[in-house]
Order: sequence, then structure tokens, then C-alpha cells
Amino acid sequence: PVSIRVLQFSSQAAAAASAAPGSHSPVLADAVAELLVGACQGTRRPGSRILLLDATFGAGGHTRRLLRAASEASTPITVYANDRDPAAYRLAGQLSESLPPGSDSATVVPLLGKFSQLAEHAELTGVEGIDGALFDLGLCSTQLDEARRGFALSADGPLDMRMGGPAEADSPTAADLVNGLEAGDLAALFRAYGEEPMARRLARAVVERRSGPRGPLRTTKQLADCLADAVGSARRKDSLGRSAHPATRVFQALRIAVNNEFIELLSGLQLARQLLKPGAPCLVLSFHSLEDRLVKRVFANRSLDDLCCPAAWADAFKRQRSPQSLHAEPPPPPPQLWQLVRFDSNRGEDYLMAGPAEVAENPRARSARLRVGLKL
Ligand SMILES: C[S@@+](CC[C@H](N)C(=O)[O-])C[C@H]1O[C@@H](n2cnc3c(N)ncnc32)[C@H](O)[C@@H]1O
Repeated sequence: PVSIRVLQFSSQAAAAASAAPGSHSPVLADAVAELLVGACQGTRRPGSRILLLDATFGAGGHTRRLLRAASEASTPITVYANDRDPAAYRLAGQLSESLPPGSDSATVVPLLGKFSQLAEHAELTGVEGIDGALFDLGLCSTQLDEARRGFALSADGPLDMRMGGPAEADSPTAADLVNGLEAGDLAALFRAYGEEPMARRLARAVVERRSGPRGPLRTTKQLADCLADAVGSARRKDSLGRSAHPATRVFQALRIAVNNEFIELLSGLQLARQLLKPGAPCLVLSFHSLEDRLVKRVFANRSLDDLCCPAAWADAFKRQRSPQSLHAEPPPPPPQLWQLVRFDSNRGEDYLMAGPAEVAENPRARSARLRVGLKL
């Protein structure tokens, strides 16, 4: 097994330095820079340009940190900066324009689209192998903070939750799902993507609410109130033992379904693998156990067959299965596509987590797990 030694980081300072004012703090930014820029130094020809894919540009915190690391190492760098959110794409455009032109300098190439569309970008056609890729999953604080995007429990807004906003006009919104799915499908969705223990009770409450005199659910507050009433006085804790709003898990489930997050992640990893040079690292930062399980399975070359998913999404998952899994005979071992990296600095574990100083500065870092797969 590959084992990578990563030093102890002062990620708190790095996060502060990389965040644009009033925006999103990048998680484990020093580790990301060390793995994507630092680790390349020994293996590339001196002076050659590092090519990286930031599949989730967001507010650009990680990309900025990567540019800084390359500048400190006097290495030219190109970051392909992708996001499905047009607001993030505009920010990547602004960053690109702010960089001084010149062949020795840093370049940012903004790309607008979903992970599953990575192969469609003309800018990536003919790129001769990239040196590393980053997927920082979930939402940006900037998306969460904007009530009209419909992600936040704490601010009332339309039940939208499309990461690409109105640009993704053919994706269902959260309102489409809560007002359109049968109670059974809603319960399956809440259970599979939210690990919600009261899935059936909450699904029934949603159906009763939308069929009543007040009509369909339109806003985040209406949904949150409906779910809170259904849970009643039962107290809720999150996985870290902190008290949580009764709607937290349902909101997570809806967001995953609206954005087709797991299928997107699977196809993103597949397409990133095609772009990476042999031996190059793909980094994934995940923020809940469902996401992390999927990433670990992919990087450990394990089957995805028994992953639980609601009927409406099952077909899409099935398409990801290898044809061998349909044979009755024991299938041949899966192809070895990735090598899951172990970290000396985390007692040989196969992931990194943020330290207490970074968590104190940026609570979002608390649940983050960084996994690295090397392309075989
Ligand atoms: C946590 S934020 C990234 C933050 C960024 N690393 C930074 O430091 O500012 C995740 C971003 O990924 C984008 N995203 C999530 N899923 C995506 C997908 N399937 N395709 C493209 N972008 C996606 C979201 O729109 C969001 O802007």
C-alpha cells in the first residue's frame, strides 16, 4: 500500500489566507496544497507546468491556495477551475483575469458545468494528463447563506436547492420532489439519502400538509415547520452529539437528490481518472458518511452493488455497475483503477481530518474527511 507522509499543518492560518473576505473558508487547504503541488515537486521535470483540476471551484479558496503554493515553489501552474454554479464560474473568470499574463505564470481556466460534463469542455480536449484533481464536495458557505437558493434551514427561501440555480432548468427542484413524490418514495428518499430514522412519519406529514387547505409546500420554512411539527418534542442530535433541527436530515436528502450528487460524484471520479497521469492523485473532501463511503469504495476498487438507493434513482446506480456483476458465477476481481492512500500522520489511516485549531476557526471543517486515490 502507498503511504504518504504529510506534515502537521497550520491550516487555520492557511484557511484565513485563502478565503476571500466574507466568503467560504477552504477546508484542509495546506494539506491539499501539499498533496497537489508539494508532492509533485520530486516527480516532475524541473520548471515544467503543473496542470490541476479543481472540480469544485466554489469561492476559489483552494485554487488560490494552490496558486500560492506554486508561486512559492517558483513553478508555473494551470488550474482548470470547474463549477456547476454560474456564480462560482464568474468568480473563476474574475480570478483568471486578475492574474498577470506570461508563460511562467499562473493560469486559471474557468469551466462551467457538472462533473458529468467534464469531458465536454473544449478546454480539456487534448490536455496531456493532469497532475492532480480536487473534489471539495457539498455546498459553499456563499450558496448556503443566500436564502433564495433554498438550501438553508435558518433562512426562509423558495424550496429550490439546485446548485446551478435556474441555469439547471431541467433538474427538479426540492419543491418538485416534496410536492410530487408518493409517500413511499419520499420515505425511501429520506431514509437512503438522509439516514432519517423517522422517514415514514416525516413523509406522511409532508403528504398530509401538501394535500391540506394550505396546498403545496413552497418555502424552506414551510417544510422545516411541517417536519418539526411531525417530530414533536423528540430531541434531535447530529452525529457529533450537537442538537440539530429535526429537518436537517431531510434537507440533506433533498439536496442530494435534486443535484443527483452520488451519480455526479461517480462520473466525476471516472472522468477525472481519464484526465490524470498514471500515479497522479485525486483528492476528495467529503462532509457526511454516505459521501465518504462512496469515495472510499471507489478508491479501494470495491463494488457499489449493495449501496441502498430509492427506486427512482436505482437505475442510474445500476448503470454504474460493471457488467461482470450480473453473472451468477463469482465475479472476477474488480479492475484495479485506484490506489487508496494511507497517511502516516494519521496513524496509517486512509483519510485526513482537520485539527482542533482549524475546526475552532471553521466549524464546517469538523466533519470533513480528505481521501486520496492515486490513478493506477
Ligand atoms: C464546498 S464548495 C467548494 C469550495 C471551494 N473549494 C473553495 O475553497 O472555495 C463545493 C462547490 O462544488 C460545486 N459542485 C458540487 N457538485 C458539483 C457537480 N456535480 N458539478 C460541478 N460542481 C459541483 C458547488 O456548486 C460548490 O460551489
